[in-house]
Amino acid sequence: MKIESGLDGWLRYAELPTESRKTAQHYSSIIVLDKNETSPVYTAGKELQEGLNRILGQRVDIDFELTSQSSSSVVVGTLDSFSAAGGNIKDIPALKEDGFWLDTHADNNCTRIIGQNERGAIYGAFEYLMRLAQGNFAPVASANNPSAPIRWVNQWDNLDGSIERGYAGLSIFFRDGEVVDDMTRVAQFARLLSSIRVNAVVVNNVNANPKLFSETNLDGLRRIADAMRPWGVRIGISLYFDSPKEFGGLPTSDPLDLAVNDWWKEITAKLYEKVPDLVGYTIKANSEGQPGPLTYQRTLADGANMFARALKPHGDGIVMYRAFVYNHHLDESVWEHDRANAAVDYFKELDGEFDDNVIVQIKWGPIDFQVREPPSPLLANLRKTKAAIEFQVAQEYLGQQSHFVYMAPLWREILDFDMRIDGKASHIRDIVSGERLGWNRSGYTTVLNVGSDTTWIGHHLSLSNLYAYGRIAWNPIADPVSIVQEWTRLTFGLDKTVVDTITKISMKSWPTYENYSGNLGIQTLCDIIYTHYGPSPGSQDGNGWGQWTRANAHSIGMDRTVATGSGNSGQYPPEVAARYENIETTPDNLLLWFHHVPYTHRLKSGKTVIQHFYDAHYEGAANAQTFPVEWAKLKGLIDDHRFEHVAFKLQYQAGHALVWRDSVNYFYFAKCGIPDEKKRVGNHQWRIEAESMELSGYKVVSVTPAEAASGGKAIITKSNDAPGSAQKELPFPSGTYDIAVNYYDHLGGRAKYEIFLEEKLIGAWTGDLEDRLGHDFSEYLDGHSATRVTFCGIKVKKGDLLKIVGQPDGSELAPLDYVSVLPEGIID
Ligand code: GCU
Repeated sequence: MKIESGLDGWLRYAELPTESRKTAQHYSSIIVLDKNETSPVYTAGKELQEGLNRILGQRVDIDFELTSQSSSSVVVGTLDSFSAAGGNIKDIPALKEDGFWLDTHADNNCTRIIGQNERGAIYGAFEYLMRLAQGNFAPVASANNPSAPIRWVNQWDNLDGSIERGYAGLSIFFRDGEVVDDMTRVAQFARLLSSIRVNAVVVNNVNANPKLFSETNLDGLRRIADAMRPWGVRIGISLYFDSPKEFGGLPTSDPLDLAVNDWWKEITAKLYEKVPDLVGYTIKANSEGQPGPLTYQRTLADGANMFARALKPHGDGIVMYRAFVYNHHLDESVWEHDRANAAVDYFKELDGEFDDNVIVQIKWGPIDFQVREPPSPLLANLRKTKAAIEFQVAQEYLGQQSHFVYMAPLWREILDFDMRIDGKASHIRDIVSGERLGWNRSGYTTVLNVGSDTTWIGHHLSLSNLYAYGRIAWNPIADPVSIVQEWTRLTFGLDKTVVDTITKISMKSWPTYENYSGNLGIQTLCDIIYTHYGPSPGSQDGNGWGQWTRANAHSIGMDRTVATGSGNSGQYPPEVAARYENIETTPDNLLLWFHHVPYTHRLKSGKTVIQHFYDAHYEGAANAQTFPVEWAKLKGLIDDHRFEHVAFKLQYQAGHALVWRDSVNYFYFAKCGIPDEKKRVGNHQWRIEAESMELSGYKVVSVTPAEAASGGKAIITKSNDAPGSAQKELPFPSGTYDIAVNYYDHLGGRAKYEIFLEEKLIGAWTGDLEDRLGHDFSEYLDGHSATRVTFCGIKVKKGDLLKIVGQPDGSELAPLDYVSVLPEGIID
């Protein structure tokens, strides 16, 4: 099977089997109702030509005239161009902005793809090709309309080429302070976005750099927009609030200062000269140290409206003003303090004060893209001010594309939530579509971390999240199972085992990750001070960031009730507020989000909170072990390159899931002292601690946080240039075992390891995950760097000598935590 890099994503247009091709409609021409090469309609024609050739082996010429003789053609155009060419548009149902009509069995054996606008035309062409690529030739005559006009993505790319929360190489837009020269990847990205009907991309980090306004970069933005326009994708930019001061040399950036307003008007006019269809601005202000209107004692609306007024004269550009405004120096000792209250506290009273072209961009949950949160209450508190929901395809708190989490089920759960505004059905999907409150412009955006890697986001499976985002933003009731099946057929082929296996792993992935990372609404228990990746439950509390758990020796959870807590439940409309205020009606999976309870509190399931933690972590980690096993069934059914990439990542995830399980369980066991009813936590019968081995050239160290090491300790070599060895006679009965080694792989070097049984080499590995995983890494021995390697099917005799030799490299001192000698069926 031919090697595939993943660069084409789901748009591979793999050739269908000959049998199936034969039954396809045969076309004599593609009639493209726009000759202009920069038009998405023209691009749609080229894409159809390419797709028909690759999928069906049909070489079809392009024509630009529609005549009454045109038969067996694919016609692509807009309502206007089709009707101007004499086409009959009477029977086409009403199309919304960006919508399209696809009729595969029109008169004269034609297929008609008619967009409400140019974007609609290209969306229709992709829809048709993606049906064909799945071997779906069923006739269709249907109008497709988007749920909402705003369907954006936000890249968090920095001008130096790095990407905030990016795990797939460098930026495709920027390098060394400037826009890159080569626009190849930019156009390829636009093609992917267009096929999932995303109509705009904000190209730079919300933590923005004003140097984006240099002459060279303004021209660079022009080149980016030019490369994306033929695909119907518009660009927007994130602004740094203090640009007038920092870049423009003004004494202030006060939004009510006339000179400041003029400065923004001028820069906006300059931008529009370069990018006449600029889609707008994204603003992060008064958030996490960023300046903003509050810095100048003005309201957030004053700030947003300043940008809105600069955009207004130039067309339909909008300001996406982020509701992610909060104080990150909050004092935890005050029981009522609560970061989750911030968005409503700041924005509710400003409802109606924002100009018509301002949209408030709201993260889906009140805190920050955790593994589970309730929906943001702000989504139910704006009536006159329009809103967009912000998702995060980047798996910042969900395993950073080193773990796989398919997020469509999570997004659906949020969008299906009924806020009961004024006691009436108010599903979030209907709020953000604009329907519920009568908004004319609202919708969706997502943080995305596409990079220069050919996998686009660092994990071939995680790319399904981008696909699903587009599908759901278009149709929020799209089924997550169908979405992933469709994506799999397009990405990996039509084989049933492939489709079923990937669907199974995907649908299990979110509950699995939730089980081993953070339960009952306690949030993802990762290190929130450092890289947001590996486990560090203690890092949530004792700082100003407000991602607190308030865990002590007896009890845990945020009291967000009105009666005794922060009052956050009261920010929801009355019916929802009542449900969350009352512990009896709060669902178990959000219990600790809303209530502070003893570890012995009994859940609706009958378990105590602490036992649920222990069990969920064991269950989640056990589930993660099944992923590489399931995946292994696909060997030979997909190309080796992508097979190996995913196999490696899933294997790594399975090992790190055990690190998560043990860290979280140790932490809470140490805190509350309540033992696991099933006697697993702290009791590892098949484990040999590295510190209990006979050491030479190695020394014992304490690990911080202690729960990131089995027994709180690990070993490192005594120097950074001489190897160390750790050995032990195995006390286990003779038999065949899997031997797993838990070690630490951190930045600063690539240590080498060899493992011997009775002086016979049974395995070797290198601590080079920083090269292979691509996520935010750590310099220390901790929950990020803790990892596992496993050697399977090793025959062991009781008393055999097991020896590990570690060769340090740089500051990586070949650290080891423990060895597990696992009989078949046991994973510990
Ligand atoms: C998170 C993330 C930051 C990001 C911020 C935002 O806090 O960790 O990297 O800047 O969200 O959304 O602005």
